Amino acid sequence: MSDIDLRLVYSRRQIERAVEEMAKKIDDIYGNEPLLGVCVLKGAFIFFGDLVRRMSNTNFELDFVRLASYGQSSISSGKIIFSKDVEREIVGKHVLIVEDIVDSGHSMDFLLREFSGRGPKSLRIAALLDKAERREKNVRVDFSCFEAPDGFFVGYGLDYAEKYRSLPGIYEIRGQF
Ligand code: IMP
Ligand code: MG
Repeated sequence: MSDIDLRLVYSRRQIERAVEEMAKKIDDIYGNEPLLGVCVLKGAFIFFGDLVRRMSNTNFELDFVRLASYGQSSISSGKIIFSKDVEREIVGKHVLIVEDIVDSGHSMDFLLREFSGRGPKSLRIAALLDKAERREKNVRVDFSCFEAPDGFFVGYGLDYAEKYRSLPGIYEIRGQF
């Protein structure tokens, strides 16, 4: 039996405005310095696409990593699967990790450790949602669009068991799922 209820939390317009503001802040910090943006697949793919189109840095490069921790459930397994690495060099570069949600912080803690061992010039995190209250690892989010309330969110790239990623807004998913 499944009785699923989706409640709109952030509309398409609210997301657009927040992403545009974030892009401005990122432009302010880096100016036109060479910058490598790293999209964390799969959840950040829509956010990343919108964010980079709002930035005006002409020395911007991009790459992708794939991290997974949830499997088919809404409770993190705590075990991180790093199944795709970047193909660009990190040494000596400003690196901006673009993630969908920082929750317990385990995934970002893992990636920060991994990347900082490769000698970046700087390393920061931009996240669509920051669930700061749920943090178990001491991970700081440098740029966030929204401080998320408690709950599980889908849409705008975010999934529950691979579903709902294509919804244009962000929804809280509730009920027996
Ligand atoms: P963390 O390692 O606990 O910080 O969790 C990181 C990952 O869990 C994120 O990259 C998301 O992919 C996923 N996640 C956490 N909360 C949610 C949510 O509310 N909806 C969808 N995915 C989530
Ligand atoms: Mg993710």
